[in-house]
Formats: sequence, structure tokens, C-alpha cells
Amino acid sequence: MIAGVDNDSIVYLNGQYVRLGDARISVLDRGFIFGDGIYDVVPAYAGRPFRMDEHLARLERSLASIQITVDKTRADWEQLVTDMLQRSGLQNCIVYIQVTRGVAKRDHAFPTGITPTVFCMVSPFQRPDAAARDEGLSAVSIPDLRWLRCEIKSVSLLGNVLAKQAAVEAGVDEVLQFRDGMLTEGASCNVWLAKGGTLLAPPRSNLILEGIRYRFLEELAMQAGVPFEARAITEAEVDEVDEIMITSATREILPVTRYNGRPVGTGAPGPVYQTLRKGYDEAIRTLEQA
Ligand code: PDD
Repeated sequence: MIAGVDNDSIVYLNGQYVRLGDARISVLDRGFIFGDGIYDVVPAYAGRPFRMDEHLARLERSLASIQITVDKTRADWEQLVTDMLQRSGLQNCIVYIQVTRGVAKRDHAFPTGITPTVFCMVSPFQRPDAAARDEGLSAVSIPDLRWLRCEIKSVSLLGNVLAKQAAVEAGVDEVLQFRDGMLTEGASCNVWLAKGGTLLAPPRSNLILEGIRYRFLEELAMQAGVPFEARAITEAEVDEVDEIMITSATREILPVTRYNGRPVGTGAPGPVYQTLRKGYDEAIRTLEQA
């Protein structure tokens, strides 16, 4: 029994559908031994995946970037996500897909002739509640201590785990990470700012994971006529912005209204957030009604 999860839910493991409580992998799996694997998280609403193509394209990019070859076409991955959603019967949920290099004698270099471990599970997810949307989150700044390949959605998440724990210990909801004085991202989300009506974000690079919501927010901003600039942002600039927002599959888009113990702008969710939130909600509604 694992607390907090449905042990009877069905997961996919290496071609088989099994109870979560019965799913087993070897202690020599390189995901367990080295964190040698990648993952992705596809959100679904009304049982329908949101921007699945982009999530699967990122999954394939992550695999290619660490030279793992899985015997699955894009259509196979789509089928897996669709099957898992159907079997779960869940409405608002996330589909978690993880691939590790596989099982081998412990040795750092890539072994030859092994088969990757492929795992998929579906878990219910609560959309952000009214308090988070209307009052916003709190955050503090911390140094970004992670490695230099943050663009890979790797299961080696120790840096992100420690970052999130820093938020818990500071009694806040999130952290904003800075590398060499420049904003990167949150513990498991991208960060957005607004200043004088312009939306700002750190550019795509190896220093952040490009969220699937990155392009989505660019689209929403364009549709709403909100100017957008992707550029390096200093710690001092963040202290002076009108709005801070975060995005991720599970948190959608949320305002950060307290930062390092001070209100951000007026201390209430700002107009750029409200505009983008409206576009976000509309896209979800369209998906639900499709
Ligand atoms: N995390 N940056 C990091 C480090 C992340 O872990 C995530 C997502 C994002 C946002 O990506 P997206 O918009 O595709 O969700 C940015 C997922 C949700 C997780 O680890 O559970």
C-alpha cells in the first residue's frame, strides 16, 4: 500500500497494464540507480489530453537528447495516452510518462543491448482553486544550483526537489531561481513577469525547461495584443515588476502576489495575469466541449 494514491489504479509498465500496487521494476533499473531517464506530464480535461502533440514531441526530444531509443512511433505514444485516459475514466487528470535507459549491471557508461523501461500512470488533478487564482501565491528567491542541461525533462530532479523543499521550509508556495543573478525558473514551473503591460520571460535556453505552456502563453499574449519579450532578467528587475506569474501543466497559470515577503505590484493579481488566465480558461473550455 502506498498512501495517497489509488493502489488499484491501472498503470502501464513495459507493454503490460497492471495494478499500481503490483507494478514492479528491478533495483538495477538505471532510473533508480542513476536517475538515468526522462519523463513528461500531459494534462487532460474532461478526459481529453491538452496539447498532447507538443508534450509527445518534447518526450521524443528528451529521449533523443540522452540517446534512448524506444520502439514506439508517435502514433504508439498517442495510443498509450489515449488508452490510459480511457482506462482511468478520470476527467481532470495528468498522464505521467517515464522512460529510463533500462536494467543493467551498475556501470556509468551506457550499456549496450538493453531495453528501456517504459512506465505510464494517470492521476487525478485538482485545477487551481479560487484562493490561488484570486489571491495568488507567495515566493522567495533562491540560487539555482542545478546542472546545465535543464532543457532536458530528466528524472534526475534532486536540484528541483531541494528547491521545492526550500519553499516549504520558507513557508511559501514557490521559489524563483537565479543563476549568476539571472532569473531561470521555479522549482517545477516557468516564470513570467509583467512590467508596464509587457509580458517578459527568460529566453529558451539550456538553463530552463521549456514548458509546453511557454509557446501557449506566447500565443495567448499575441491573441490578446499583450507585447512579449523573451530576454535575460536580473534579480534587481524582478524586485521592480508589476506582476509575477508561473505556469505548469498542473498549476496552469497562477499569479505570485508576494515575493520575498513584499507585495508584488498592488499585491493583487494584475491585468496581464487576468488577460492570460481568461485565454487559458477559454482554451480548456473549448477542449472540454470538443
Ligand atoms: N513540471 N520547468 C520545470 C523545471 C518543470 O518541472 C516544469 C513542469 C515546467 C513547466 O512545464 P510544462 O508547462 O510543460 O508543465 C517548467 C511538471 C509539471 C512536473 O515535473 O510535474
